[in-house]
Amino acid sequence: MAGSPAALKLNPTPGFGVSETRRMAGIGIVPSSVPDYLAGLAWAGSPAMPVFDSAAAGGIARSSDNAIPVPPWPPLAPPVSRLPKVGTTIFTVVSALAAEHGAVNLGQGFPDFDCDPRLLDEVDAAMRAGHNQYPPMTGWPALRQAISRTIALIHGAVYDPDREITVTAGATQAILTAILALVHPGDEVIVIEPAYDSYVPAITMAGAVPVFVPMTPPSDQQPTYTVPWDRVRQAVGPRTRMIIVNSPHNPTSSVFAADDLLALQQIACDHGLIVLSDEVYEHMVFDGACHESVARYPALAERSVIVSSFGKTFHVTGWKVGYLAAPAALTAELRKVHQFMVFTVNTPMQVALSRYLSDPTPWQTLSVFYQRKRDLFGAGLARTRFEPLPSRGTYFQLARYRGLVDRCGDLNEAEFCRWLTTKVGVAAIPVSAFYDEPRESGIVRFCFAKRDETLERALALLQAL
Ligand SMILES: Cc1ncc(COP(=O)(O)O)c(C=O)c1O
Repeated sequence: MAGSPAALKLNPTPGFGVSETRRMAGIGIVPSSVPDYLAGLAWAGSPAMPVFDSAAAGGIARSSDNAIPVPPWPPLAPPVSRLPKVGTTIFTVVSALAAEHGAVNLGQGFPDFDCDPRLLDEVDAAMRAGHNQYPPMTGWPALRQAISRTIALIHGAVYDPDREITVTAGATQAILTAILALVHPGDEVIVIEPAYDSYVPAITMAGAVPVFVPMTPPSDQQPTYTVPWDRVRQAVGPRTRMIIVNSPHNPTSSVFAADDLLALQQIACDHGLIVLSDEVYEHMVFDGACHESVARYPALAERSVIVSSFGKTFHVTGWKVGYLAAPAALTAELRKVHQFMVFTVNTPMQVALSRYLSDPTPWQTLSVFYQRKRDLFGAGLARTRFEPLPSRGTYFQLARYRGLVDRCGDLNEAEFCRWLTTKVGVAAIPVSAFYDEPRESGIVRFCFAKRDETLERALALLQAL
């Protein structure tokens, strides 16, 4: 059998696993180091080595007589995309452009300052105390208890930490988990646009269909984006299973009032809908307003899944720790998906956050912290040719750019952001990117979760326009 392909015994090629070595042998792909590859092959009962034709074109090996035959298998067909409409996100594109041109990046929504050193000390202490193995699947118990206490303190609603709260790898995982767990192929999900960019891909991955309702854009009479609840009601059909809401809202900075929650409650209860309430900016609400969580409305809370994220609240977007809060029957389904999506979320961060949450001051003072930055940036922007729109919550500021047409020409929002980044040196995000089919409103989004010096540097560039 020596020399026969049937007797081929594969040893892993250095740097490659057995299966990769087998695959390379089977389809004749030679790694960059051919000697390494050959050294990984041995013929059973024979020291003979396969010989490859060095004239192989384009890196594809042809075997000679006593070498491995290359069967005439066709190359792997390109994968059928689960998300054919998805490309690189606008946030990645703008951030890359900002880096390339050395622009001040007010595009992507993350702070350019660090978190409280006490929180870092808690992580360090947790790691050194040996909290480095898997936590319970549902989340570190003390963190679930702390989340439950915080919700009760703010909204007067009681979520059982054992049966109704689940710690997730940020809000993005929480959103995907909720949609995969509760929405079925063919179901419809109402998405109010402009909308955060993970909702629609999650709906698509669940085999469901997004139904879009645009917010009413700002006008001279009504300077903020509002939700047209009558149009939301009209969008409900026999297949509607879920409605996704987000307040405080990215990208518009609008904040739900009690009337919005009552309208939502009426529609959800009339039609038996689940509400997915994205509340990641819950602690950033300005001018003395309060965050109207669905948790405050018992009939609504009964059918709602709340999503939040510590990344936004404690300036640690890279930690990716968030949570789901939902009634026990819904949570039971959420956890089935969570268990096989990530199983658990890193332990030391959870331990640290559970301890850090015992002091309410950091989240209680967050609105004041960001309101000062909003005022600094908004006042500066008002001295430019941009027209700032009201920012009622989040760390975003919208602005119209129609006053700049003599400088840049008649550009759509994406073109304008490219011009602003490359020619002016300040990166912003087009609001049109938050629509399934881009809609032009001549409005862009700036993120003011930045050091004062960063904001002042950006303002100096914008004021020079
Ligand atoms: C509205 C909204 N939801 C969810 C997320 C995702 O949060 P996380 O980073 O915790 O996944 C973001 C992040 O920008 C957001 O703006």
